[in-house]
Amino acid sequence: MRSFLKPLWAAALLFPLQAAMAQTPVYLDDSKPIEDRVEDALSRMTLEEKVALCHAQSKFSSAGVPRLGLPENWMTDGPHGIRPEVAWDEWNQAGWTNDSCMAFPALTCLAATWNPDMSLRYGRAIGEEARYRNKNVLLGPGVNIYRTPLNGRNFEYMGEDPYLASEMVVPYIQGVQSCGVAACVKHFALNNQEEDRYTVDVEVSDRALYEIYLPAFKAAVQRGKAWAIMGSYNCYKGQHCCHNQYLLNDILRGEWGFDGVVVSDWGGVHNTREAAYNGLDMEFGTGTDGLSVSASDAYNHYFLARPFLEQIKAGVIPESVVDGKVRNILRMMFRTTMNPNRPYGSFEDPAHGEAARQIAEEGIVLLQNRDNTLPIQLEKTRKILVVGENAIKMMTVGGGSSSLKAQYEVSPLDGLRARVGSAAEVVYARGYVGNTDGSYNGVVSKVDLSESRSADELLAEAVALAREADYVIFVGGLNKNSHQDCEGGDRYDYGLPYNQDRLIEALAEVNPRTVVVLVSGNSVAMPWADRVGAIVEGWYCGSEAGNALAAVLVGDVNPSGKLPFTMCTRLEDYHAHALNDSLVYPGVDHREIYKDDIFVGYRWSDKQKKSHRPLFCFGHGLSYTTFEYGKAVLDRKQMTEADSLRVCVSVKNTGSRAGAEVVQLYVSDLKSSLPRPIKELKGFRKVMLQPGESREVEFVLDRTSLSYFDDAKHAWVAEPGRFEVLIGASAEDIRSRAGFELK
Ligand code: BGC
Repeated sequence: MRSFLKPLWAAALLFPLQAAMAQTPVYLDDSKPIEDRVEDALSRMTLEEKVALCHAQSKFSSAGVPRLGLPENWMTDGPHGIRPEVAWDEWNQAGWTNDSCMAFPALTCLAATWNPDMSLRYGRAIGEEARYRNKNVLLGPGVNIYRTPLNGRNFEYMGEDPYLASEMVVPYIQGVQSCGVAACVKHFALNNQEEDRYTVDVEVSDRALYEIYLPAFKAAVQRGKAWAIMGSYNCYKGQHCCHNQYLLNDILRGEWGFDGVVVSDWGGVHNTREAAYNGLDMEFGTGTDGLSVSASDAYNHYFLARPFLEQIKAGVIPESVVDGKVRNILRMMFRTTMNPNRPYGSFEDPAHGEAARQIAEEGIVLLQNRDNTLPIQLEKTRKILVVGENAIKMMTVGGGSSSLKAQYEVSPLDGLRARVGSAAEVVYARGYVGNTDGSYNGVVSKVDLSESRSADELLAEAVALAREADYVIFVGGLNKNSHQDCEGGDRYDYGLPYNQDRLIEALAEVNPRTVVVLVSGNSVAMPWADRVGAIVEGWYCGSEAGNALAAVLVGDVNPSGKLPFTMCTRLEDYHAHALNDSLVYPGVDHREIYKDDIFVGYRWSDKQKKSHRPLFCFGHGLSYTTFEYGKAVLDRKQMTEADSLRVCVSVKNTGSRAGAEVVQLYVSDLKSSLPRPIKELKGFRKVMLQPGESREVEFVLDRTSLSYFDDAKHAWVAEPGRFEVLIGASAEDIRSRAGFELK
């Protein structure tokens, strides 16, 4: 009897549980496919709830559906660290005490590592921080192309080359998204300057668009599988890019099959109808007649808020339009906040500092090193003089939306002092005054930059000290203040600000072992280049900046960074400035024509005369060791469009210390019906080699490496004919060539 009753009892007990499970709505059942969950959630939402999902509710968040338990979306800048909390409806700090992040190196530095593994590491680390801070969208990475060295935001991007930027952006996204945080790739597209950024209408050939300005975005979407993308402020074909038929509907969704969320840039939306129809999903940062500051329901005034709702209710816009947006938003939510399996992330994690330091160490570029000025030979050194404001200024503060409240920041001076210790005396002289206010949006620099002495007094002090020093390390450059590598404005000129040239020249005159460290995200004029011993591009390296720089200067780390953009002698050596035509840059009456077309960066300088060679070319970067290249060997002399071509080359470390070399592969189309760049980067590998060690490096090329974009056909074309593979240590330092034919 008892044994007979037992199953009945058990069944009775289990029944409510099973019933409850049977009732779990599809949208909450993570065993169901995401698309089913999206449709189920959508079917349960009121029109008001749908519209609420499509616009901000605070500076960085948008509503969820409280009734259904669908969480809010929380965004954070991006792209170098997790932005500190701001007040609900203000840019100013909220004053939280748990939001000091790790500051990672700027993306120019990441690109300069030419190491996709570093990019993955970066993405993971910043993704963990975003996740821990409960953000589900990271506003980054940025992949706008380096078109002019005046662009105030180049430091947030990955350089001038579409291939390099594509290879580097993909792992960053994968790393971020492995944490259950959406990467929001920005700024799509053609936002290659800050000057007139809200209105300038960019005219560009389809060819330049597809070959130069879009590939990194395409790679982000198709290979990186980015869950979000941010429209840019500027216009294209007369429409703002945040609601742009051509870029968002035709290309992004139509040609590339993007199924994520299109987020507006903050204040980038201007029109309800276009915002409804032209590809935008979420509107942020709009100031509607100043209402976002003063009105109690400011966010209801957004273009995609009440005006959108009213037009749907009036039947002017069909409900299917909002349904499309909500599908995209829900899909992103199921991938992030509503994925129960996503990791928890971490913050204040020493591993993130370690990642930041290693990325910086690999990204710092040794541009020049006459007579082996570097590394500093500590055993023979009594005194090192450090000169320059950038040796002490906090660089994590400033620059615009990427400004951070960092847990800590090691300055170049502190980093060098810590590394040198008692081995030598490290003295400091300010040398020049640039900017005495280091604060930004309420984050106050921890360094007192006040200075009462005159420029002449500062110079005299530095020069006097330089005479007695074994080494002079000048740390200058730009500084993330307005018009000096900062969002919202471009640089006014190419030269170094604050009369730094005069100081560098004076130092070099009294001390041949003068090392110039440029802290910047852009190239600058270097009229003193042939008078100083060494030049180092030190970037903005974040929390670990000083430690990484010191490690390179004293030789603990053998530099292996390579330039992700061309450094020209003069501004007019750049394509966007060569024609001295305001229509080409920065535009006239909000109209700008990219007459430079596909000839951007080295693609331009390759066409110039010998007398206009770049000062430091794309892909350039020295090491404390030397590398010898073997002959490039191809596995075939002819290929068809269906084939792939293997290229092998050996590289050997011929010096006495371990070092890493970036082997670069360029392809040259020897004869084609359309004008083509002399060569284009189509492969690279970073290899670490011990002294005497050699390694075979292999590349595989296919038709995509040989193709150009044909405007007339609106298609990529690989034209039969003769090609050449160029293997080099930089765009100018080609070590081996081999030809083949495409049948
Ligand atoms: C910038 C974006 C940034 C956003 C939010 C805008 O001004 O262009 O890159 O993500 O602000 O801070």
